[in-house]
Amino acid sequence: MRHVLVGGKIHSSGIDLLRAAPGISIEYIEEASTDSLIPMIHTADAVLLRTQPLSGHLIAECRNLKIVSRHGVGYDAVDMDALNERGIPLAIVGDVIARGVAEHAMMLILAASRRLLRYDAASRGGDWDYQTSCEARELYGKTLLIVGYGRIGRHLSRMAGVFGMSVAVHDPYLTKGDIDGDDILFATDLGSALRTADFVSLHVPRTEKPILAAREIAMLKPSAIIINTARGGVVDEKALAAALASGRLAAAGVDVYETEPPGPDHPLSKLDQAILTPHMASMTLEGAERMAIAAAQNIIDFFNGELDPDRVVNREAIGFSPGQ
Ligand code: 8YV
Repeated sequence: MRHVLVGGKIHSSGIDLLRAAPGISIEYIEEASTDSLIPMIHTADAVLLRTQPLSGHLIAECRNLKIVSRHGVGYDAVDMDALNERGIPLAIVGDVIARGVAEHAMMLILAASRRLLRYDAASRGGDWDYQTSCEARELYGKTLLIVGYGRIGRHLSRMAGVFGMSVAVHDPYLTKGDIDGDDILFATDLGSALRTADFVSLHVPRTEKPILAAREIAMLKPSAIIINTARGGVVDEKALAAALASGRLAAAGVDVYETEPPGPDHPLSKLDQAILTPHMASMTLEGAERMAIAAAQNIIDFFNGELDPDRVVNREAIGFSPGQ
């Protein structure tokens, strides 16, 4: 029997899949934290994890661990060196959430541009004359700079095209030939791209230093809008809040934070120019079900010797092959 520990609340379809799999037993902790996981993790052959960190300390507690399956695609909260040292694969869910996250970024672009929070507050508060404030801005003809042209960035560029936006892409890991379509501007220099962008949306893994720090934010037009559905830390939150508060920047849409949850005193939570969501861009009903199924299936496939190596992010570091 292989024992699977599921840490964090996931869609029931993933749990059902694991329960129905022959030779698998499961333990399910909806409220997962390092403290709640430690007593269970010793015996786990596999761990399926939502967003909580998997530190080297926690990995050292795992005597039987053979695979970690992330309910998502990012893995900055996992100590990869500790997994690599023990030759343990880390699987991610592949392409099941890219469109949903891009849709969320598009929603934040629209909501921030149309000043949705302010018009909503005015309607509820009886301030009907707010209709003449003309604060809302249209997307047609505006330039969207997409930083990071992976699966999510590609979906977003297509969606923006439907709204009649011009799309520019900055991605230091790609060349012009990797970009879909001639109508997308491939911007090698981030600084010049920032100076002409009306919107900047980030779609990159967590970086050690912010891609948009105070210096880069200062390069943007005062009418510009920043969207972050990628990871906290890729935008300097304090600099972002200061630029919004001073009117140096128009608006922002933010789903991810340097520390999560960000807490009520977070500088962005006081500003109605910022539309905030609680790291849920992928967690639609449909996305949550697809992630749960994909993360569970990765574990089942692994124990059957059938896990797709493309799902294993450290396949090269550990020399992963399915039947190993
Ligand atoms: C979360 C994400 O994993 O894929 C990622 O890396 O950031 C998200 O999809 C999600 O909240 C599910 O746990």
